[in-house]
Amino acid sequence: MIDKAKLQIGENSYEFPLIEGTENEIAIDIKTLRSLSNGVITIDAGYKNTGACKSAITFLDGEKGILRYRGYSIEELAEKADFLEVAYLLIFGELPTKEELAQFHLDIKDKAIVDDDVRKIIDAFPKTAHPMGILSSLTSALTAFNPTSVNVDSKEEMYGAIVKIMGKFPVLVAWAMRKINGLPLNYGSNSLGYVENVMSMMFAKPNEEYTINPIVKDALNKLLILHADHEQNCSTSTVRIVGSSHAGLFASLSAGISALWGPLHGGANQAVLEMLEAIKADGGDTKKYMAKAKDKNDPFRLMGFGHRVYKNFDPRAKIIKVAADQVLNDLGINDPILDVAKALEQEALNDPYFVDRKLYPNVDFYSGIIYRAMGIPVEMFTVMFALGRLPGWIAQWREMRLGKEPIGRPRQIYTGETHRGFNNISQR
Ligand code: CMC
Repeated sequence: MIDKAKLQIGENSYEFPLIEGTENEIAIDIKTLRSLSNGVITIDAGYKNTGACKSAITFLDGEKGILRYRGYSIEELAEKADFLEVAYLLIFGELPTKEELAQFHLDIKDKAIVDDDVRKIIDAFPKTAHPMGILSSLTSALTAFNPTSVNVDSKEEMYGAIVKIMGKFPVLVAWAMRKINGLPLNYGSNSLGYVENVMSMMFAKPNEEYTINPIVKDALNKLLILHADHEQNCSTSTVRIVGSSHAGLFASLSAGISALWGPLHGGANQAVLEMLEAIKADGGDTKKYMAKAKDKNDPFRLMGFGHRVYKNFDPRAKIIKVAADQVLNDLGINDPILDVAKALEQEALNDPYFVDRKLYPNVDFYSGIIYRAMGIPVEMFTVMFALGRLPGWIAQWREMRLGKEPIGRPRQIYTGETHRGFNNISQR
């Protein structure tokens, strides 16, 4: 087996070891390059070819459309598992036994109360505040209410921090929605399952009993599982890099939420629905928007299309498309937006611009249609993504800290002015 890579720079030749993953992915380990070569570094804007870490959590093959958490296929997990089981799997590496899952849930429920003073922070936000802004601020605020940082060498402390955030985060998610909907803040009930409780906290009205719709619950469970991890994406890399400075878990997560918010990442689910609405309002002229997306002088992109890693299809999008049909059917909803989405997808799949660039619908293309059918406001879509991604962020943060990874600190090639003398302001 080839186990070395050679690099020739001018007269000098350098050898670097190759690292091989369990799925036969290969990386060149260049950690000695700079010292051996007297200052040469690699540059790779957007990290398109750069591995930032070794990880045993999620495997993704973008060419074949494979996604697995800890070895289990996303299709099987979405079909058979419960979100909390998947969270446990991602974080701790194995599917829980019945007893382990029950204990995990019990410990989460035990920590679900959010300090009542957090309500004062929520009160200070205007009703028009974007819920992602609220969620990121409140997650950061948890650091102030839980000032002691986690001793990562203590199993108990690590576990304590994990169940704390797994308990409090859904409360913050629900409160962000209740704030924009003008509803009083609540706590759901400890007698409910994790996903059912999220729904109850989000939707329950103070003057009527809330009954769980099993169709909505199953759809939400599936969506949360599909979003639970996606290896080294922008927000996860953010969580890892912030955590690598030994900032606390909640602070690292808050940074990840901010990264997720951007329309090229998790914010795309909101952007997709707004785009589909705009196309519908414009008479459903999908061809016009296809032309805009292809026009290099127009900043418009077809939101929900394309992916840095998937170049064939996004397996999550396949599952969500089927689920969207099912949920709308089961709930008896006829959403014309779904027809616009399907028409757009068909056109894109047959258009050389999209085919040549390998641009396919991604996870965000159909998810908003399901969220909307569930009665979730558009601005909450990315918050729902964050709720699903929470266990993935925790798992990646935990792996990074337990692996004693060094602080993340990229290098650069400086392209600014070389040394110049300072002129006093009177001389400029
Ligand atoms: N519409 C039109 N053209 C596109 C699109 C799109 N959605 N996506 C990529 N392209 C073009 C792009 O203009 C470029 O063309 P050319 O080679 O002629 O310059 C080519 O395809 C390659 O694009 P890129 O921007 O270099 O690819 P990337 O890997 O840097 O970006 C992406 C990936 C997901 C940011 C991008 O496809 C995009 O902006 N998509 C729309 C936003 C979106 O749906 N984001 C959600 C991603 S999935 C969930 C998540 O990760 O949060």
